[in-house]
Amino acid sequence: MTLDPLKKDSIMQRPPKWWKNSVVYQIYPRSFCDSNGDGIGDLPGVIGKLDYVKELGCDAIWICPFYATSNYDNGYDITDYERINPEFGTMQDAERLIEEAHKRGIRLIIDMVLNHTSCEHPWFLESQKGPTLPDGRPNPYRDFYIWREGGPNGEAPNNWEAIFGGSAWSKPETAPEDSSSFYLHIFSPQQPDLNWENPALRQELYRMMRWWLAKGVDGFRMDAVCYISKDPAFPDSKDGNIRPYASFGPHFETFAREMNREVFSRFENVMTVAEMSESTPERAEIYANEDGSIFSMIFQFQHLDLDGGDSFKWTHRKIDLLELKRLMGFWQTALYGRAWNSLYWCNHDQARIFSRFGEAEGPFREKSAKMIALCSHLMQGTPYVYQGEELGMTNYPFRSISEVRDIESLNAWKKFCGPGPSEVKYTEAEMLDLISLRGRDNARTPMQWDATPNAGFSAGTPWINVNPNYTQINAAEQLTRDDSVFRFYQKLIALRKKYEIITAGRYAVLDEENPDVYAYERFTEDENLLVAANFRNHPTRVTLPADYIAKNQSRSAGILLTNDPQRRTFQLSETFTLNPYEAFVVFFGVR
Ligand code: GLC
Ligand code: CA
Repeated sequence: MTLDPLKKDSIMQRPPKWWKNSVVYQIYPRSFCDSNGDGIGDLPGVIGKLDYVKELGCDAIWICPFYATSNYDNGYDITDYERINPEFGTMQDAERLIEEAHKRGIRLIIDMVLNHTSCEHPWFLESQKGPTLPDGRPNPYRDFYIWREGGPNGEAPNNWEAIFGGSAWSKPETAPEDSSSFYLHIFSPQQPDLNWENPALRQELYRMMRWWLAKGVDGFRMDAVCYISKDPAFPDSKDGNIRPYASFGPHFETFAREMNREVFSRFENVMTVAEMSESTPERAEIYANEDGSIFSMIFQFQHLDLDGGDSFKWTHRKIDLLELKRLMGFWQTALYGRAWNSLYWCNHDQARIFSRFGEAEGPFREKSAKMIALCSHLMQGTPYVYQGEELGMTNYPFRSISEVRDIESLNAWKKFCGPGPSEVKYTEAEMLDLISLRGRDNARTPMQWDATPNAGFSAGTPWINVNPNYTQINAAEQLTRDDSVFRFYQKLIALRKKYEIITAGRYAVLDEENPDVYAYERFTEDENLLVAANFRNHPTRVTLPADYIAKNQSRSAGILLTNDPQRRTFQLSETFTLNPYEAFVVFFGVR
């Protein structure tokens, strides 16, 4: 099948910036749906569930990498950008996915991993052969990666620590004994960093991205893109922290603008979302500017770093609600009219949010999940729903390290429980508790479709265990019920389509110092939304300022959505009480 990018199908005729009132559904294909019983989710599995995504009301899918891979990091280590991982299917399956998604009015955003490839990518296999070929010519692939000489005693070129642990420099396994050349890898040694300073490499990547857009995909999620430019001096870093020197390097903006010019701007209405740790509103204003000169929006991490995050994730720290409110408000206000936010609690790298705050079991499980959803979906930005989030899926109780698959958790286990040097040491039991709380595999246990064996994910043995709570939490059951978490997400998504104020209104926090409740307003000249969410399992009081009451009291009021069957009416008054985990949104205006 060939798709001519210039011949517009109905999707291509969408209005510019279609993502502003869209909701994106994120799929981790390995864990979504297995169509052939080999225990691994695949593309035909995804195609079979497009109607489910449609039913939820999402307009776009972001699918995690589905390319040929060596699978050290489940697809984030690519061996060929233009082939499909055979475990997932074929190129025909990918083309059918694009076509079937488009038939349903769903756009497809694919994951672009451009900071690094797999160490088994042919470019790297060539690169590691050395600067010159046996016939004396220079090796054209040498400079596709970042090579530096080590110190006189065989030490690495600098003290940078890889994000997945250990030194960020390695020698290839095939290197001769006396070789002193190291390659840089910000993540694992199996993920060597590409050298973006090399124009030939950049052109190769741009060509490949255009090739995908020509196939009909609607945009890209730009994996770890802030790392593509590094400090060229490669200086030692304080405590070995790689981020200050390896992210937002001096040429990042140049590369990003060039990528826009060479790729995104050549097609219509391409959506891009850039994964950027270390983001600030100033950076967002450059990289996700409303003028569309670079990316459409960014993923920042600060709200999810509040319980550890980039600095040190392996702790029991809890997210503090006051800090969370300050941070969310900061981003909502700073980006208004300047850059575009993304809104998310969950993705394939994050433990399940309902286990981080909210209640993962007990009578308030569903109510707290709905509260957390409502709280973020009514802010400004593009919401992302990560597979299973719409069911209130929870963390997995890891009881043995043999259940863990994730490279990051396995490396942390070696470091903190193993014999090697480390400032922090944990017992195995402590570390398993931490992995159950913070590990990325919590997001990667199979999607819970129904109450049949393996949650209906696979007829074979799943590559990673299914959460034992699938008999209780699954899609089939939730689709039978009007008051399920799924139905609540469906209503939230529908509200965004109906009320322009959710996309365009301004944001202001209410009752800011309240430690238990997140209340905020969205406002325009003539309309107002009041959002209130009780983060506690006990009743709480909320106080509204006098000017808030004054401006809304003559307007007609109506509850648009609530997670509390007892909340039938809302009377605007200076204070009111919320039930445990109650959340609602009230609309004030002319209806
Ligand atoms: C991003 C991805 C993560 C991956 C890493 C390296 O952070 O979301 O899953 O491990 O980049 O590609
Ligand atoms: Ca399969």
